[in-house]
Amino acid sequence: MSLYNNLWGVPVYKENVDYTYNTFDKDVQDFVDKYIENTKPMIGSKGVQVFVDRGRFLENPKLEKIKDLINQHAQIFKDRIMACTNELQLTESWLTVNHKDDSHFIHKHACTIFSVCYYPKAESGSLVLKAPDEKNIFQRDYYFPFSYSETNKWNAVVWEIPVLSGDIIIFPGWVNHFTTPNESDTTRLMIAANYWLKGSGHLGANSIEF
Ligand SMILES: [Fe+2]
Repeated sequence: MSLYNNLWGVPVYKENVDYTYNTFDKDVQDFVDKYIENTKPMIGSKGVQVFVDRGRFLENPKLEKIKDLINQHAQIFKDRIMACTNELQLTESWLTVNHKDDSHFIHKHACTIFSVCYYPKAESGSLVLKAPDEKNIFQRDYYFPFSYSETNKWNAVVWEIPVLSGDIIIFPGWVNHFTTPNESDTTRLMIAANYWLKGSGHLGANSIEF
C-alpha cells in the first residue's frame, strides 16, 4: 500500500528552524519593525499587509542571512524532491504581516515553480492549501457527493498546516492557498520567495498574485 502512496502527489515540504525573529540581530529586527510600525489590524476585512518592494524584499543586504536560509531550503527541495539538475533562481520576495484576527485571503503565485514561506514569528494559525478546482482525487471528473468517515490526504479538499515561529513551508506555485486568522496578540510575520528556472524566460517581476 505504501509503495505508490505518492504517485502524482503534490510535494509539500515543512521544516522548523531555530532562526526566528527573536534571534535576529537587533538591526534586522529594527528593519522588519519599521515595516510593521505603520500597519494596523484590519479587523473584519480578513486583511493582510503585504510589503513587496517590487518583489525584492530580500535584496536588502541586512536580510542576507534570511535570504541564505530560504535559498538553502529551496535547494533541498529542488535536489531531493524535484531531483531536478537545472539551476533555479529566486525571482520575487516579500513580507506579510498579520495582526491579531488578520488572515491572508486565497491566492496562488503566478510564474512560479515553487514558493518558500518562512515564518520568523507565528504563534497562531495555519497555512491552508486547497485542491485544484476544489476537488479531491475521487472527484476529478465528477462532483460525487461522497460522505467520508474521516478526512485524510486522499479525500481532503483543503489541508491545514499549522505554523509557528521558525517554520518553513514549500509548495508548487500553482497551489491555491490562504491562512487562517492570527488569533494571537503577537503579530504574525511571513517572508516568502518564488523560484523559477535560472535565465529561462521568466515573465518579469511583480508576478505575485495577492
Ligand atoms: Fe502566497
